[in-house]
Amino acid sequence: MPPQVAAQLEHRREPLVAEAQQQVTGRQVGQPDAERVAQPGGQRARLDRVRGRADAADVVHRKAPLLAWPDDTTAAAAEPRRRVQLRLGVDQRAGHGRPGDAGVHEIPAVQTGCRLVGAVGAGLAGLGRLGEVVQRHDVHGSVEGERYQLQPAPLRLEPPGERERVGAVDLRVGDDEPVAVHVGAVHHAGRPARRGAVGRGHHRRLHRRGDDRAGPPVGQLHDVAVAVPAPEVGRAGDPDPVVVQPWRRRGHGPPPVRRSSVRRRRTLTWNSVPRLVSGVTDSTAIRHLPDHDAFLLTGSGFSYAFAVGADGSLRHLHWGGPLGASDVAALLGDDARDFGSNTWSHPRAHTEELVQHGGRRLDETALKVEFADGVRALDLAYAGHRIAGDELAVTLTDRHYPFDAVLSYRVRPDEGVLERRCELVNRGEHPVVVDRAASASWPLPWRPRWEATWLAGMYAAETQVTRRALGPGRLVLESRRGIPGHAAQPWLALDAGAGDTTGEVWSVALAWSGSWRLVGELAFDGRLHVTAGVNDYDLRLPLAPGTSWTTPVVAGVYTAAGHDDLTDRWHRYERRHVAPRPDTIRPVLYNSWEATFFDVRPESQVELARRAAGLGAELFVVDDGWFAGRDDESAGIGDWTPDARRFPDGLAPLAEEVHRLGMRFGVWVEPESVSPDSELFRAHPDWIFQWPTRPRTLARQTHLLALSRPEVRDHLVTALDGLLSSAPIDALKWDLNRPLTEASDGVDASSPWIAQVEGLYEVIDRVRALHPGVWIESCASGGGRADLGIMSRTEWTWPSDNTDALERLAIQHGYLRAHSPHTMMAWVTDSPTYLTKREIPLRFRFHSAMCGLLGIGGNLATWSTDELAGAAEHVTRYKHIRTTVQFGTVRRLDADAPDDVTALSYQAPDGGQLAVFAFAPSVRHLRRTVLLRLRDLDPAAVYVDADTGARHSGALLMHHGLRVPLVGDYASALVVLDRAP
Ligand code: GLA
Repeated sequence: MPPQVAAQLEHRREPLVAEAQQQVTGRQVGQPDAERVAQPGGQRARLDRVRGRADAADVVHRKAPLLAWPDDTTAAAAEPRRRVQLRLGVDQRAGHGRPGDAGVHEIPAVQTGCRLVGAVGAGLAGLGRLGEVVQRHDVHGSVEGERYQLQPAPLRLEPPGERERVGAVDLRVGDDEPVAVHVGAVHHAGRPARRGAVGRGHHRRLHRRGDDRAGPPVGQLHDVAVAVPAPEVGRAGDPDPVVVQPWRRRGHGPPPVRRSSVRRRRTLTWNSVPRLVSGVTDSTAIRHLPDHDAFLLTGSGFSYAFAVGADGSLRHLHWGGPLGASDVAALLGDDARDFGSNTWSHPRAHTEELVQHGGRRLDETALKVEFADGVRALDLAYAGHRIAGDELAVTLTDRHYPFDAVLSYRVRPDEGVLERRCELVNRGEHPVVVDRAASASWPLPWRPRWEATWLAGMYAAETQVTRRALGPGRLVLESRRGIPGHAAQPWLALDAGAGDTTGEVWSVALAWSGSWRLVGELAFDGRLHVTAGVNDYDLRLPLAPGTSWTTPVVAGVYTAAGHDDLTDRWHRYERRHVAPRPDTIRPVLYNSWEATFFDVRPESQVELARRAAGLGAELFVVDDGWFAGRDDESAGIGDWTPDARRFPDGLAPLAEEVHRLGMRFGVWVEPESVSPDSELFRAHPDWIFQWPTRPRTLARQTHLLALSRPEVRDHLVTALDGLLSSAPIDALKWDLNRPLTEASDGVDASSPWIAQVEGLYEVIDRVRALHPGVWIESCASGGGRADLGIMSRTEWTWPSDNTDALERLAIQHGYLRAHSPHTMMAWVTDSPTYLTKREIPLRFRFHSAMCGLLGIGGNLATWSTDELAGAAEHVTRYKHIRTTVQFGTVRRLDADAPDDVTALSYQAPDGGQLAVFAFAPSVRHLRRTVLLRLRDLDPAAVYVDADTGARHSGALLMHHGLRVPLVGDYASALVVLDRAP
């Protein structure tokens, strides 16, 4: 029986896939995509990445894919964890091989020069834990099959020589094909092994404990070669762009989906902007230098280098400005042990790629596990690597236990971003407990001093720029709340005295929407390394035999051009690689929370909607209070059905009225919580986190649902699908207002800190797949959840409940350090605002909110005719500049302005428009104007003031400045400059 083509379901789209798509569809390689940054969480398959049929037509690659399959599939199925011999074959379909060739051509074992032994049986045994059915589909027109997505399984070439990970395992279980296991998809390098560097020398390092059987040199397994295009969320320029394979149930998976009878109006479309970015994958971004057994990773303005040491360790060499391959020898000769240490650690953390707990390591470690025999020390050594496009995976294998740590590096060449993560693989027969698993540690070069910049805060005062000199010791930024929290963003920048436009800056950010930890450890000798990952607070993550877990991604940025450039790089990265619908203009929002709070009634909402539409709003969101039992905070969360007293016919009439007014319609939800006074809790009191013998902690009068439990996830998907299908709902504000406490889901003995976040991601992904047109705003009591992980699944975030336009400026200033303005919602609310009671004029309130995504959140029923007219003018003006604001280059101009002035400029992606904002809460000392020097303009260009017609040269604006009037209290200005043709 010839094997079917193995489908490679990578955790996210690979460059290889882009190539495949290019060949299939002619699309441009490297188009901005909406890849998910966060990792799947290894033990659960990613549902959202499955798109299209995994048949041969999808498989296109320049080289012939090498497939591997078990010699005896029946035995593999019957005897779980049995080691099976794999056969190799070249796939001649999909354009490989001679015309007319069909099927898979087996390569005789003798030709491979090796025997492949894979842990395929382990995959079968661990099926329940390893993966889930992601798709049932037709296999070659006749046999109905199921496709499972599993985590990568290790393959080993025997005799031992190389150990290589080859990506996902694809299983098909068909009716007349009891078990077919295909391990896909690898390339055989087809060349002799590098004898010295990797062949026998390496073999000796790995098996120095007596298992030093000499064997013939073996080939390396290279490149993932078979790929299925991943789903694209929010493809640029597509007005209704989410394309994800819908979940179809056949005996497995979640309950059937109840489709709505509601007919969706399709007359409203979101605005698109012309393509703003283009990226080209640079296949030379990652180089292996065999002479030194070193790796050189290069992107725009940076290099990162490390090497395999003689003892099998991974020695860090460089993270900083660009270097050439010829520099690596010098790096290797540079003995980092010149420095003494106050920590007495050996080796020192800044010399290692992975700081594992074990030996004399006393610096901050990244990885700690406990083996079944109680041993809590690791002893990992290099075992092989794989380069696929701009991603490098280096496998470290424990010298005693069947345990791997696979370090992944992915270069985003154009943004100068390096993404890292670590996969932990238990290949053994006993469980391993993970106690600490950071995504990466980042060694920084020696500098005489270090300054740290981070975004600290609290509820209603999030993302305050905080800058301190680092002293010897540890800077620990973290959340223990189960969400990223308000206390700090999982983001950190370090410099040795950089300014806005000059100096080196290193920065890291974690794509994780749960508890996290960033540690900057500075030794007395000036050596600094940063560890970033999930928080090990109360963490106990058992890895069952044959399973793996992958940490979330941590992204690192280096720039030599100061904090402006750092901001640009983070913004570009979010636009190109993180946020869905990267090229779609965000709508002007109206949200009714501060207008009506819990008193949500159809009549008042319609009145608000009429007024909002009159101002130019494009999306109308009904906040908390619309659902059954929700008269106040005490009840109703969990039952996502409209309050029958107020909405006897459901939400459809209101939604349709909003649509008639020309706006999209959205509602607020808090899916992860449940009120004790709710139908859901009465039916399923066991679905929350709780200890049987301890009191349950209520927070904002709710419990937290255990999304670690599949039935809870299925219920939420069904409930949200029911809601979204019951009325033409276009958007959700997805909130969470409580921390994770009592960390036990009553089922799984492991601590649920990670499963909860992975469960949330799964629920969002499934809801998005079912309702691809729906947009989502992320909120957690304001800005408690605004990390790269959630941002890869939501269109924008709500940075703070504090809508005081003055205080908002500081919040926005910090937010923009880490995040692009096209993710930053801001509302104009009533004066005085309900939290701070401050009175601020309408103009200042609008100008402040126009620095991000403009929303309106005031009680428009009480606004005067003049206020409504003024508001409408501001909305019109905003629409004129919003492409520039949402997708432009941001410059903070404060450094050049008086202390009481906040100023910033946005330059359109094509340089054609500038929007300059200036604010002063109370102008003093007879000052009537400020002179703001703009940055990064074309000195030879002429810029025309859109209001006055005044013409300024770029040189004048940069070197002398733009004079902006600011007088009195709550003075603000918006100057729009158009570049003369
Ligand atoms: C949280 C959010 C607010 C609002 C309320 C509703 O506090 O941050 O914006 O949605 O919940 O209860």
